[in-house]
Amino acid sequence: NPENVILTETDGRVGVITLNRPAALNALNRATMHAVVEAAEAFDADPQIGAILVLGSEKAFAAGADIKEMKDKSFAEMYASDWFRDWERLGRVRTPLVAGVTGYALGGGCELAMMADVLIAGPGTRFGQPEIQLGVIPGMGGSQRLTRSVGKAKAMDMVLTGRQVGGEEAERMGLVSRLVDDEAVQQTAREVAATIAGFSTPSAQKAKEVVAAAFETPLQQGLVHERRVFHSLFATQDQQEGMDAFTEKRPPRWSQR
Ligand code: HXC
Repeated sequence: NPENVILTETDGRVGVITLNRPAALNALNRATMHAVVEAAEAFDADPQIGAILVLGSEKAFAAGADIKEMKDKSFAEMYASDWFRDWERLGRVRTPLVAGVTGYALGGGCELAMMADVLIAGPGTRFGQPEIQLGVIPGMGGSQRLTRSVGKAKAMDMVLTGRQVGGEEAERMGLVSRLVDDEAVQQTAREVAATIAGFSTPSAQKAKEVVAAAFETPLQQGLVHERRVFHSLFATQDQQEGMDAFTEKRPPRWSQR
């Protein structure tokens, strides 16, 4: 991370990634994509980490993919490099991902926010897929994740007009997990991440896995998958500990196994 395009820290069992290109409103260039993906994978591989938090700045979570970096590319270059493919690695991270989304979350910024498992925003957060205004379309999952999350009517409106929606509308649409005051977004996101990280990671990772599977599988198959994963948790020490603690009326002491 030579250019410091992101900052990373650990906060207890939470791995924090803060986008750090203020002069470009956190536009997601390739260096930033690589840094975010590598940091998330490193946290994912770290047994001390139970949740990953992604933050931007007050003005911009991220104002999109980096337009200046892309503008003169040819089709051949975009195709050969499979531009944006590395974001798929973020989707494969098993540790729950929380985003505290403040300010602009446009284009790739909106798409990155939608890769989070839990999305915290405020009334002042601005979501949008403005790519149509640049003569292109979403390329980091916007047409797919937005449609799955808010349905055709709202997704078509946003993708075809580029209209920005504020946090309140986004919450009504189902894009936002929790709407809090703008000043409280980052702290709330930290608390949500800390809550998740405070549980047994084997169960948190499997909870993420089965909810995510609902987007990929028919209902009957998803129900069987859920049940099998549920059964698998009975191979963990933390299932025994969690249920023992309940019956003994004491807090659980997770072994993360
Ligand atoms: C590169 C960006 C950028 C971006 C902002 N900047 N967004 N640089 N890529 N996506 C830069 C500006 O050029 C400017 O640099 C600096 O950040 C500050 O931005 P301003 O525009 O001066 O700020 P402001 O007037 O407050 O306007 C904020 C804004 C606007 C409304 C968010 O910046 C904006 O519309 N940005 C682009 C939003 C967008 O279209 N995103 C989608 C990108 S495409 P200088 O050097 O002038 O100070 C995408 C998907 C790609 O994400 C998929 C298909 C290929």
